[in-house]
Amino acid sequence: MSDVPSFNHRSSADDVLRDQNLSGQVIIVTGANTGIGYETARSLAAAGATVIATCRSTEKAASTLQRLLQAHPQSSVEVAVMDLASLDSVSDFCRQLSRRKIDTIICNAGLVAPEYGETRDGFEQTVGVCHVGHFLLVTTLLPELLTAPAPRVVMVSSESHRTPSRLNFAALPYPKDTFSTMKAYGQAKLCNALMAVELHRRFADQGLTACYLHPGTMVTTDIGRDSALVRLAMRLVRPFTKTANQGAATSVFCATWGERHELGGHYFSHCARAKPSAETANEVAGRRLWELSEQWLKER
Ligand SMILES: NC(=O)c1ccc[n+]([C@@H]2O[C@H](COP(=O)([O-])OP(=O)(O)OC[C@H]3O[C@@H](n4cnc5c(N)ncnc54)[C@H](OP(=O)(O)O)[C@@H]3O)[C@@H](O)[C@H]2O)c1
Repeated sequence: MSDVPSFNHRSSADDVLRDQNLSGQVIIVTGANTGIGYETARSLAAAGATVIATCRSTEKAASTLQRLLQAHPQSSVEVAVMDLASLDSVSDFCRQLSRRKIDTIICNAGLVAPEYGETRDGFEQTVGVCHVGHFLLVTTLLPELLTAPAPRVVMVSSESHRTPSRLNFAALPYPKDTFSTMKAYGQAKLCNALMAVELHRRFADQGLTACYLHPGTMVTTDIGRDSALVRLAMRLVRPFTKTANQGAATSVFCATWGERHELGGHYFSHCARAKPSAETANEVAGRRLWELSEQWLKER
């Protein structure tokens, strides 16, 4: 990329933002109370951005605000409650931001669900939170985004977007009788990738940059909280993997570096372009997912 310092798998979010002045930028980060989302929000706030950190409860929002202000007392941080497993909650949050300029949305919140569960609106929760909630958020705030001079949407996907190799529309969001934790997770992360590519296709000519990324493998966060197996695996790999601050590096890289043509519709890992699965280029799947998601929202 032109004029972009080279970062690598060891770079942290703070390294990526060193010497950047983001004052005037309004950036929403979902799932900002812990893990990669917290480090994304904290590092962006430290660089001067006005960060709107969303959390799913009032208690988590209050403690996140306290920790962010403790870390960076001069920063311009706001917190808001948004439960991505409730479409009403997402709509309430969007209403609060109506007519406000928003430069960037980082769709970070996600989960690995050990068992089948549903959102308030009846969607399987992995796809419901990672995709449906974020789809409603971004599409509702598009008018506010498109008034910004160089708006961006950053979807935190995963290498898991490679499995399944094709988006299985017959099993979307995910059926209870064949539920598998990692298959539902892969499906959700493929939805994140397809949504970024489709956003690029639909809105690049109106100035929007949308891209998607892998933050790192087994980054030390709370993602394994509900599974003893994932928790154990994460403890074992901790010395060899990224910290949450390093895990946030590619998110803040995609939010702040590069030009639209260098980022738009592309996949990033370790702060650099990466090769995604072939399915991400499947325009038919991207369009169908978009239309299906719109239909789901209309029917709720
Ligand atoms: N860690 C990794 O190795 C890894 C690898 C690839 C991709 N990722 C992706 O990176 C992103 C961040 O994950 P992480 O590792 O930082 O995990 P984490 O520590 O578990 O953080 C996940 C965040 O998502 C939030 N969230 C979950 N369900 C929500 C809901 N219904 N409404 C609003 N927020 C919700 C969580 O809030 P609560 O605390 O309230 O649950 C938390 O803030 C995810 O999209 C994940 O898929 C992570």
